[in-house]
Amino acid sequence: MFDLHNRLAKFPRRALANYPTPLEPMPHLAAPTGSAIWIKRDDGIGPAMGGNKARKLEFLMADAVQRGARKVVTFGGLQSNHARMTAAVARQIGIEPHIFYFAKRPREMTGNLLLNAILDAKMHFIPFGGAGRNDLQFTNRLVRLLARMIVGNAYFIPVGGHTALGCLGYVIGAAEIHAQVQSLGLREVTIVTAVGTGGTLAGLLAGFALLDSPVRVLGIDIGKLWTNCPADIARLAGEICAMLGDRRAFTARAVPIIEDRYCGDVYGVPSPAGNAALRRVAECEGIFLDPIYTGKAMAGLLDLIAQGKFARDANVIFLHTGGSPGLFAFPEIIGRG
Ligand SMILES: Cc1ncc(COP(=O)(O)O)c(C=O)c1O
Repeated sequence: MFDLHNRLAKFPRRALANYPTPLEPMPHLAAPTGSAIWIKRDDGIGPAMGGNKARKLEFLMADAVQRGARKVVTFGGLQSNHARMTAAVARQIGIEPHIFYFAKRPREMTGNLLLNAILDAKMHFIPFGGAGRNDLQFTNRLVRLLARMIVGNAYFIPVGGHTALGCLGYVIGAAEIHAQVQSLGLREVTIVTAVGTGGTLAGLLAGFALLDSPVRVLGIDIGKLWTNCPADIARLAGEICAMLGDRRAFTARAVPIIEDRYCGDVYGVPSPAGNAALRRVAECEGIFLDPIYTGKAMAGLLDLIAQGKFARDANVIFLHTGGSPGLFAFPEIIGRG
């Protein structure tokens, strides 16, 4: 078998959580659907209310420390969980967090913004709508430039921790899921994840491929963040494998992602279907999803199950990537949907 453990051990890593995260059944949610639905609890990992970014930040922040960084810069949407977790980990290791937003400073600090303020993260609001381009590389270059002018020397983390180094965290996630599935003897397994920047999906794809695992993965796009998203995820998955010494290529066509269908109107704004799905999971299982990522992805998953897209004996695992602080920014969740 591919010696993932030793290859990963070459990269500095700062542990932020205890692994493996639980894999739990969701019997009440599953009952009316006739499918077996599980949930992988990556929502609770890491500091400051946790989430999937903990796995990426373990590698990125270890790199920042190794390079002697005194400040860290990242950016995201107003309710970015990545920004909140980056700020928290930066505080934990004693470096100054700076966050850029392409939006006006909101009148009220709610949800993740409130938590950033409590962490005394330095927030920079630049109201020109992501420079009007859905181009990941362009936006990264722009923030780097702005950060150099405004913040000075700092360790830069792209939106969502979207780098091959950060995504090694989800190669470990894939190995963890593979082992849990094996020990439970589950067959016909598909793990479903929300896709924001796509790094989580890329890490899982690379990890399952390297392990030659029968576990399939499916990404549900929650926001049309970038043009050419599948091509970018394919490139990133290839880069992740290359970092681990494996030369394999992924094609955009082979990236398992459903684009557009479950995004709602726009990234960062809850959708009625997502709100309904998150309320259903709370009512059935006592688990909070979030309105921007996991609620929309769950709406997609429940719709796909209702359409009969999974085999009857399938085991579907929903990856809970976190984000519940976002709930406190959208009280309308209980009024609509
Ligand atoms: C709660 C939550 N779920 C899912 C995602 C998507 O992860 P990725 O950017 O790796 O696609 C994010 C961040 O973007 C997130 O904050």
